[in-house]
Amino acid sequence: MRVFHILTSVLTICCFFLITLPQSRCQTHDAVCNEQPYKCGTLSNISYPFWGQNRSRQCGFSDQFELTCHDDDTTTSIRIGSQNFTVKELNTSAETMRLVRKDLADDVCSPQFGDTYDVNSSTVFRYSSSVYNMTIFYNCSSSVDTPTGFGNLTCGDEKGLFSNGAQDEVLKRFAWLERCGRHVRVPIDAPYDDKGGRQFLQQAFGSGFPVNYTLHTSLTSMFSAFSNYHSYTCIFMFSTIYIHCRIMECKTKKKYEC
Ligand SMILES: *[C@@H]1O[C@H](CO)[C@@H](O)[C@H](O)[C@H]1NC(C)=O
Ligand SMILES: *[C@@H]1O[C@H](CO)[C@@H](O)[C@H](O)[C@H]1NC(C)=O
Ligand SMILES: *[C@@H]1O[C@H](CO)[C@@H](O)[C@H](O)[C@H]1NC(C)=O
Ligand SMILES: *[C@@H]1O[C@H](CO)[C@@H](O)[C@H](O)[C@H]1NC(C)=O
Ligand SMILES: *[C@@H]1O[C@H](CO)[C@@H](O)[C@H](O)[C@H]1NC(C)=O
Ligand SMILES: *[C@@H]1O[C@H](CO)[C@@H](O)[C@H](O)[C@H]1NC(C)=O
Ligand SMILES: *[C@@H]1O[C@H](CO)[C@@H](O)[C@H](O)[C@H]1NC(C)=O
Ligand SMILES: *[C@@H]1O[C@H](CO)[C@@H](O)[C@H](O)[C@H]1NC(C)=O
Ligand SMILES: *[C@@H]1O[C@H](CO)[C@@H](O)[C@H](O)[C@H]1NC(C)=O
Repeated sequence: MRVFHILTSVLTICCFFLITLPQSRCQTHDAVCNEQPYKCGTLSNISYPFWGQNRSRQCGFSDQFELTCHDDDTTTSIRIGSQNFTVKELNTSAETMRLVRKDLADDVCSPQFGDTYDVNSSTVFRYSSSVYNMTIFYNCSSSVDTPTGFGNLTCGDEKGLFSNGAQDEVLKRFAWLERCGRHVRVPIDAPYDDKGGRQFLQQAFGSGFPVNYTLHTSLTSMFSAFSNYHSYTCIFMFSTIYIHCRIMECKTKKKYEC
C-alpha cells in the first residue's frame, strides 16, 4: 500500500510537469496549423484530423487521415486499407465523409479491382448506419433468368446481376451464381432498387457512401479496456492518455472528452 502511495505521488508530480510542458510549446505550432486550412480539389475548409498537400503531418491526427489531390486539383482522395477512394464531401464538424469508388462511378461495367475494402475493418473509419452491402455478378450467361429481388444490367454482350447483401450470403442462396465470371462487393446507401438497372447503379456509385470517424470514441474505448488493470497500472495509463489528450487538445483547440 505504501508503494502504491509513493507511486501515485511520483506520477502526479510527473504528470504536472508533463501537462504544463506542452502548453507553452504548442502555441506556435497551433498558429502554423491554423494558417493552413486545407484546400484540395473541390473541397475546402479541411482541418484537423486531416493533412496532406501543404498541410504537414504534424497538423493531422495520424497517417490514416492523409488526403491527396489529383488531376489539376479537381479531386481529392484518401487511402483506406489497400484502396484509394475519391472524397466527394467532407465535414469536419460532423466528422463525416462521402467516399466514391472512382472506377465504378466512371463505368459500372469496368471494375478495376475486386471487392471494395471493408471500411469497417479500419481502426478509425466506420460506415454510417445507412450503408449496406451490394454484390454485382458480372459475366453471367445471357441465358440465365434474373432471380426475384435481383437487378440486371448489360455490359457489352454479357449479362450482369446485382443483389443487396454480401456475396457469401447471396451465394448461399444462389450457388449457381458462382458460374458468373466475376463478382464484386460494393457498399452503397441509396435505397435498393432491383428494377433500376444500370442507371440505378451508376447513380448510386456516383453519389458514393457515407463514412464517419470518431476520434473521441476511440479514446473512450481505450479507457474501458484499462478498467480491468490494477489501479496503479491504471493511474499510469490514465495519466498517459490524459497527457496525450492535452497535447491533442492544444494542437486542435478542440476538446475531446477523456
Ligand atoms: C496551400 O495550397 C493552396 C492550394 O493548393 C494554396 O492556396 C495555399 O496558399 C497554400 N498554403 C500555404 C501555406 O502554402
Ligand atoms: C493511391 O493514390 C496514391 C496517391 O495518389 C498513389 O500513389 C497510389 O498508387 C494509389 N494506389 C492505388 C492502389 O490506386
Ligand atoms: C469550417 O470548418 C469549421 C470546423 O472545422 C466550422 O466551424 C466552420 O463553420 C467551417 N466554415 C465554413 C465556411 O464552412
Ligand atoms: C456539417 O455538419 C454540421 C453538423 O451536422 C451541419 O450543421 C453543417 O451544415 C454541415 N456542413 C456542410 C458544409 O455540409
Ligand atoms: C458514426 O459512427 C458511430 C459508430 O458506428 C455511430 O454511433 C454514429 O451514429 C455515427 N454517426 C453518424 C453521423 O452516422
Ligand atoms: C459498420 O459498422 C457499424 C457499427 O460499427 C454498423 O452499424 C454497420 O452496419 C456496419 N456496416 C457494414 C456495411 O458492415
Ligand atoms: C467479361 O468477360 C470478358 C471476356 O472474357 C472480359 O473481356 C471482360 O473484362 C469481363 N468483364 C468483367 C466485368 O470482368
Ligand atoms: C457486409 O459484408 C461484410 C463482408 O462480407 C460483412 O463482414 C459485414 O457484416 C456485412 N455488413 C452488413 C451490414 O451486412
Ligand atoms: C432485366 O430486369 C428488368 C426489370 O426487372 C426485366 O424486365 C428484364 O426482363 C430483365 N432482363 C433480362 C435480360 O433478364
